[in-house]
Amino acid sequence: MDIRQLFSGEHKGQKVTVRGWVRTFRANRFIALNDGSCLANLQCVVDFEQTPEEVLAEINTGAALEISGTLVESQGKGQQFEIQADSVTVLGGSNPDEYPIQPKKHSLEFLREKAHLRVRTNTFAAVMRVRAALSFAVHQYFTKNGFYQVHTPIITGSDAEGAGEMFRVTTLDPSQKTDETDFFGKETNLTVSGQLEAETYAMGLGKVYTFGPTFRAENSNTSRHLAEFWMIEPEVAFNDLDDNMDLAEDFIKAVLTYVLENCEEDLTFLDQRFAQEEAKKPQLERSPMGLLERLRFVTQNEFMRVSYTEAIDILRNSKPNKKKKFKYPIDAWGVDLQSEHERYLVEKHFTSPVILFDYPAEIKAFYMRMNDDGKTVRAMDVLFPGVGEMVGGSQREERLDKLVERMRAMDIDEEELWWYTDLRRFGTAVHAGFGLGFERLVLYTTGMSNIRDVIPYPRTPLNAAF
Ligand code: 4AD
Ligand code: MG
Repeated sequence: MDIRQLFSGEHKGQKVTVRGWVRTFRANRFIALNDGSCLANLQCVVDFEQTPEEVLAEINTGAALEISGTLVESQGKGQQFEIQADSVTVLGGSNPDEYPIQPKKHSLEFLREKAHLRVRTNTFAAVMRVRAALSFAVHQYFTKNGFYQVHTPIITGSDAEGAGEMFRVTTLDPSQKTDETDFFGKETNLTVSGQLEAETYAMGLGKVYTFGPTFRAENSNTSRHLAEFWMIEPEVAFNDLDDNMDLAEDFIKAVLTYVLENCEEDLTFLDQRFAQEEAKKPQLERSPMGLLERLRFVTQNEFMRVSYTEAIDILRNSKPNKKKKFKYPIDAWGVDLQSEHERYLVEKHFTSPVILFDYPAEIKAFYMRMNDDGKTVRAMDVLFPGVGEMVGGSQREERLDKLVERMRAMDIDEEELWWYTDLRRFGTAVHAGFGLGFERLVLYTTGMSNIRDVIPYPRTPLNAAF
């Protein structure tokens, strides 16, 4: 039986059997057992006089045990139930001199090196359970709202973002140029986004979403970038940018509400952890809200909606703090915003999530719909405190002539994307969508500070261990 089920109390007084891993063993008597089903350990009290020496000797941190006994109300502090063990079987021992996850605080950096074992710590188990709950909430939200999931290809021939940060897929010697002897007979790569294919499906199924891995060979060694990350991309026919902003806001609020309601134990633990971590920072850099407070704030307040042009005006008239200027000064309309600018807007100026929209065409992808001013496109980014860009999306250019014009100007291969322009030839219509980086959502929800700690096996430059 799962330890989580036992904590419900239903089985009080009954004989039960549990299996899990030893977190601690005290006084030759008290085993704290964890099976991953919930944060709390189950205390198992062994009668050392009845338990063979060899068994006692093998009850070490990390060992896998099967314990049978009676579930009783606990006498000790801190736990409601415990097992009075009748029998303890060691399923798999764990040499205490070699097992790296000892019952003490390990640094996150150390645990990254032990990524195959770090899920046996409270922090990582809590993060990964919340991650799983968020994933479920994503599917639940879209299914409830009439969206169909589409599985877009992972190997593609197109560069959806036109940014060229792709991993090549080939069966040839890597030094060889792709020709008809290569597996696909053409250049292929791991997808950077399922958007373009999702658009084709939205123009037939109406409301669709993807939720899959995406790959970017950008050399950004930051706490918010991965080379392999999971992206959620809804795409909706007949939606314009305002509808798209409404969808993004409603979606984020819904999934956060789901975890607030369903992951109380883990979030309370992560809230305490977050408070401890924040307390180590200089006063000025601390989050003004606790983790749970921050999550509730997002679910209860409207996101600010601000155009790029308004944001530039705000930034031009702002100083990030008393003395300093921005490292990248905002000297002209049209510059791309750096994370310091985004953070200033979100954390200092508005102190809430912000949706920036109508960006200069020059700094955005070819598929975004041109505004009548001829210089801005119907793009939107949703910015969050601490995390920066959580969502990037847009209304798509549905007019064939304008799309082709932009593709030419931006050197996008028209022949490769013949099917994409076809959509504008047959039954074209206004449509819009966005991409949400799943790990950034997990990062925000759990209050962790490095994206490497919210995915089981992070892939980053020079790191693909495990
Ligand atoms: O803004 P991006 O590049 O947008 C797209 O890919 C569009 N095709 C989405 C669409 O309209 N369907 O990426 C979307 C989101 C970002 O806002 C960010 O949250 C996340 O994906 N993201 C990353 N997350 C982790 N590591 C990286 N290297 C990321 N790059 C983007
Ligand atoms: Mg973006």
